[in-house]
Amino acid sequence: MESLTKSASRLLAEPYLNGTGRPSLRPVGILGVGSHAPARVIGNQELERIVETTDEWIVSRTGIRQRHIAAPGETTYGLGVEAGRRALLQAGIEPEELDLVIVATVTPDYPFPATASLVQHHVGATRAAAFDLGAACSGFIYALAVATQFVQTGFYRRILVVGAERISRIVNWTDRGTCVLFGDGAGAAVVGPVAAGAGFFSFDLGSDGSGAELLVVKGGGQGHPEVTGGDGALPESIRMSGSEVFKFAVRVMDESTRRVLDRAGLQISDVDLLVPHQANSRIIEAAAKRLGMPQERVFSNVDQYGNTSAASIPIALAEAVEQERLRPGHTLALVGFGAGLSWAASVLRWTGPEGAA
Ligand SMILES: CC(C)(COP(=O)(O)OP(=O)(O)OC[C@H]1O[C@@H](n2cnc3c(N)ncnc32)[C@H](O)[C@@H]1OP(=O)(O)O)[C@@H](O)C(=O)NCCC(=O)NCCS
Repeated sequence: MESLTKSASRLLAEPYLNGTGRPSLRPVGILGVGSHAPARVIGNQELERIVETTDEWIVSRTGIRQRHIAAPGETTYGLGVEAGRRALLQAGIEPEELDLVIVATVTPDYPFPATASLVQHHVGATRAAAFDLGAACSGFIYALAVATQFVQTGFYRRILVVGAERISRIVNWTDRGTCVLFGDGAGAAVVGPVAAGAGFFSFDLGSDGSGAELLVVKGGGQGHPEVTGGDGALPESIRMSGSEVFKFAVRVMDESTRRVLDRAGLQISDVDLLVPHQANSRIIEAAAKRLGMPQERVFSNVDQYGNTSAASIPIALAEAVEQERLRPGHTLALVGFGAGLSWAASVLRWTGPEGAA
């Protein structure tokens, strides 16, 4: 309570002045990113021995060649901690400087405590608050939007946003229609104040719960305690209407990206790099085509990781920075979609650690 009052009074005492002399919202950006995936890699050939499938089918329908799968004992929070440490290192920020840790996940280690509390403790973010956020594969962008509100107002200054999944735990390894698609991993971003003109320009968040049944895990919650998986599937595993999700994904990626650009007063041609949720290379290619975005300005690593749900965008971001596909001054668009159904997009000017204000 005391620290909350202190933060609020600091906000009133030190408003951000944007050069006009009037208090304004602080510009907020990403100061560092990091990722981590389990060491164990499962290639398509290995899946050929588990279900009736072929490497040729998986590659031609999804673009996926391999995925990382957690070993027994490897946890969602553990993956998140490693990604978080790398993001802090890149940002040049000590864990004690963090005010908040948000973990976007659909595969928390426990119903409670929050995975974010475990990440907070194990990265050494001794001053930070922590909570999880659930918006499935759109979760990382949702979490960035939440973090941005806290920093914009001055309530918090440094936030670790993590997307972490051990999704292999909820994959039905007898269902060839889904088990070939997913993988485990984590990515993280440090969010903080940046110089005027940089950072996040706009967000677009959306939900259409009428499509809840199209991508769902029914067991584990309280909504359907009677579900026993009459079709032979474990109630705790993913059920999906693949082709309907595919069509939804292509449509919302196009629409949501256009909306964020429109809100920011930008055009498709202004975007240096689009980092979409990595679910299927055919979805990414179809959405890019609808947007009129050349493939060389679209980042994809789905071939190496499969769909890591909330972790896919931050893993891709970390690799885009590492490969220097994303550099300070670039205009970056992010777009994701997933269960809910849900979607989210954002556009920002990339700064990296040099942009910290
Ligand atoms: C799942 C997906 C790859 C399937 O591709 P598709 O071209 O739509 O294929 P279909 O579902 O029409 O299935 C075609 C056939 O392939 C079969 N098939 C499905 N998975 C298979 C596999 N791993 N190996 C071989 N055959 C497979 C189906 O049984 C079907 O056979 P049938 O025609 O005899 O019934 C695709 O629909 C997809 O990616 N959807 C979106 C999924 C997604 O991104 N989910 C996560 C969102 S966050």
